[in-house]
Amino acid sequence: MTDLVVRRLLVDMEAPISRHWCGGDPFRSAFFNALSMSFPVGEQFFIDSVRNAFKALPADKQAPFDAEVKGFIGQEATHRRLHALYNAHLDALGLPNAWEPRAKDRIRRLEGLDPRHAVAATAANEHFTAIFAQWLLHNPSVLESADSRLSTMWLWHAAEEAEHRCTAFDLYKALGGNEKWRLRWFRIVTVFFLTDILRQTVTNLRADRTLWRRATWASAWRHLFGKQGLIRQTFGPWRDYFKSDFHPSHHDAAASVNWLVTHRASYQPVGG
Ligand SMILES: [Fe+2]
Ligand SMILES: [Fe+2]
Repeated sequence: MTDLVVRRLLVDMEAPISRHWCGGDPFRSAFFNALSMSFPVGEQFFIDSVRNAFKALPADKQAPFDAEVKGFIGQEATHRRLHALYNAHLDALGLPNAWEPRAKDRIRRLEGLDPRHAVAATAANEHFTAIFAQWLLHNPSVLESADSRLSTMWLWHAAEEAEHRCTAFDLYKALGGNEKWRLRWFRIVTVFFLTDILRQTVTNLRADRTLWRRATWASAWRHLFGKQGLIRQTFGPWRDYFKSDFHPSHHDAAASVNWLVTHRASYQPVGG
């Protein structure tokens, strides 16, 4: 079981952010903003799913998960609080969040079902956040010339996503979740996640009036399909989830540990 530390990030998210906070690049700014828009509702769903899965375990199986579940909930609650502050700035910039109501609708449809469905969907989403996190931690130049508060926040979030990548997956397995439903939820989450991130990025660029600039598309191509591109680098790790013996710990998280050690001045461990 993993020792998950809750960390208070020492950045001021109250001060406004600029429209193209990510190195003056409309695409990168719009893409990260889109992702952030999904977090407050998404991370609340992960918290609820993990808490309900934990409660559904027989008492003797709960003890080994106790500290890890508390740490997971604390980390995700901290993420959602900071992303809500960040998103309020996006709202003030006139960027409409169309992802959140769609996500809320889908989450509502899981109410009352076997808790293994929600935790399987959470494990699938956590695989996405973990491979995205690994990509970002290995390619910090994606945040080159960004507002330093936001670049610290994204890398801290990435480090913690990589750190707690096993929690939902292990709970699903401990509840006797089967392979068929694990993979089925991964396919569903893949379709929704890719559609939503694309739609929200386009919405943000349209609201920003930068959708049809050549520089926007050049940046999109470079950061998605170029040598260090997100899609190019994460396709293999994404596909690993289909292996019958897959476990999130098979993916190395040394970059996360390294960031947390070298950026110790950026955060304060809570209750430790
Ligand atoms: Fe998170
Ligand atoms: Fe997470």
